[in-house]
Amino acid sequence: MRPIVRPARDSDREPLMSFIKNVWGGHDYIPHVWAEWMSDRRGRMFVVEVGGTPVGMNRVRFLEDGSAWFEGVRIHPDYRGRGLASMLGENSMKVASAKGATVFRLTSNSRNRQAHRQVARIRFNEVSRISVYSPPDGVKPLGRMAIKAAGVKDLLAVRKVVELSKEFVQGAGVMWDGFTAISLTPDVIARRIREGSVFIAKDAVAIAMPGKEGNEVWSQICFLCGEPKAAVGLAKGIFSSKGKADWKLAYIPQGSPLIGALRRAGFRRSFSLILFQRGVKG
Ligand SMILES: CC(C)(COP(=O)(O)OP(=O)(O)OC[C@H]1O[C@@H](n2cnc3c(N)ncnc32)[C@H](O)[C@@H]1OP(=O)(O)O)[C@@H](O)C(=O)NCCC(=O)NCCS
Repeated sequence: MRPIVRPARDSDREPLMSFIKNVWGGHDYIPHVWAEWMSDRRGRMFVVEVGGTPVGMNRVRFLEDGSAWFEGVRIHPDYRGRGLASMLGENSMKVASAKGATVFRLTSNSRNRQAHRQVARIRFNEVSRISVYSPPDGVKPLGRMAIKAAGVKDLLAVRKVVELSKEFVQGAGVMWDGFTAISLTPDVIARRIREGSVFIAKDAVAIAMPGKEGNEVWSQICFLCGEPKAAVGLAKGIFSSKGKADWKLAYIPQGSPLIGALRRAGFRRSFSLILFQRGVKG
């Protein structure tokens, strides 16, 4: 029977969750975000059905930098290896390019080899590897180092530190929000400054903001760069501030000189992600 890709409906929830509840040992986040994703107009969800039964899903989201973000692809174990995830991916590329997106991106845990093979099949290329670091318990600010929130007048100075940094180059020019990557365009940097999410200390810059998914909240450093001692000071200062955080996560591109400095300060790697990307023409 020929598989069909179509927009998701509320009635797809039950058949999809019947297998998604077992993905990743029962720790998949999809059941917690399904309702939010169904009503979120910034993205669109799709289902692939075989013989009238939904056996897979995915979502494409339109981000503020003009890129399209692909996520939440899940295929029933009995239907894998038949090209269904690739059909969903091709459909999302069509939808996203019709919306004007010229870059498509997605991420996957560095250990998820099945996903890596599948995305290679639809000609996504690895552009960066990111390690996600967490601070030691009870992290304290670094001495008397002054940290300030960047203002609009700091835009050019912030852009210079960010755009000339190793982290910008190694990290494919993106910042992370949750598990989503957004290009650090001048507009995006300016917006983060206006929102009060950019912090500076000496020659270092951090973009930090709260993350949220379902009932869980976390503190995240979405991008960090600059002179290592000052950058570590920024990370410690940000993570030592009060407020509920189920996790504290700093996204650092692999190969960054900051990794050694963070490790010496007691930060530990929690997991790693690969960023994949392709353009409209592949
Ligand atoms: C990753 C996943 C979405 C792939 O779905 P899929 O429909 O099997 O993928 P496709 O059939 O389109 O692509 C198949 C490719 O993936 C590989 N593959 C994925 N799952 C496979 C399986 N169970 N058996 C054999 N090959 C598999 C194959 O190597 C194949 O590549 P090939 O054509 O070069 O041999 C699916 O395995 C899944 O739902 N996994 C659990 C959730 C997950 O990891 N999602 C991705 C998060 S980023």
